[in-house]
Amino acid sequence: ERAGDALFRFPLKSVRGVLLMEPIAQNFEAIWAFCPDPTDVLIATYPKAGTTWTQEIIDLLLHNGDAEACQRAPTTVRIPFLEICSPPPIPSGLDLLLTMSPPRVIKTHLPIQLVPEGFWENKCKVIYVAHNAKDNMVSYYHFDRMNMTQPEPGPWEGYIHKFMKGELGWGSWYDHVKGYWEEKEKRNILYLFYEDMKENPRREVERIIEYLDLSVPEDVIAHVVQLTSFKVMKENPMANYTFIPKGVFDHSVSPFMRKGEVGDWVNHFSTVQSDLFDEDYEQQMKMANIPFRTNI
Ligand code: A3P
Repeated sequence: ERAGDALFRFPLKSVRGVLLMEPIAQNFEAIWAFCPDPTDVLIATYPKAGTTWTQEIIDLLLHNGDAEACQRAPTTVRIPFLEICSPPPIPSGLDLLLTMSPPRVIKTHLPIQLVPEGFWENKCKVIYVAHNAKDNMVSYYHFDRMNMTQPEPGPWEGYIHKFMKGELGWGSWYDHVKGYWEEKEKRNILYLFYEDMKENPRREVERIIEYLDLSVPEDVIAHVVQLTSFKVMKENPMANYTFIPKGVFDHSVSPFMRKGEVGDWVNHFSTVQSDLFDEDYEQQMKMANIPFRTNI
């Protein structure tokens, strides 16, 4: 069953200074040339920021809370992942987009400077979700253990250094969150935080509704909040990534729907590691002023 390792664990290749999985890097010209429709909506995140959660919320909102309609296909098919080009059966984002007519919801992990220019030229709505660095890194570490398409994470101690140096797939978390933050007013990006979503999911769902100019009845909003709780999504076979073959995502190593909590980093960082991380964080983030919270 682990024969997949050698086949899938792609090395990372740099595209304009950002490390991406080799197949994405090789296909980057086609990705860059993709031109969305003005009605398409983009969900942008650094990996493990709460992408799947946001995808489910938006798909439900666009289907007026109809849970059955949102069972029509797995997340990856309902909302194409723009740059992905993994081996089958994971559909390539560009191929899938060709089969769908606008308005589409599209997912990307690309940092803002690598997002195809058509999204900005066409003034597409863009929803960005940011997750505090420590929890984001913990989630990414466990994901890299179970995701056989990404490089092996190696030991936790070394992973911290890779994260701080931006040596993971989709590059530096620091540059990613800062890039979208700095452009959010100019490009009309809705910038959400995972921690806010955990603290008050209804409030953040309402922000999404307002941003997308939707009109959603009260009871439907409540229903959407309930259907997108961690507990419900963990059991939803069309949202919990168990639809990916075991040779690609091995949930027995670590489930995709792993913990879904704010503050799990305390169970991973030693005091020394946390201090070292904080010191580096100060340096990398000092001019940014992004109100991240590592506890709620
Ligand atoms: P953990 O590994 O900390 O549990 P992404 O979808 O961007 O890959 O992010 C995955 C992270 O979001 C995982 O974090 C996953 O458990 C969490 N997540 C997924 N659905 C969630 C939900 N409905 N509520 C809270 N967290 C959720």
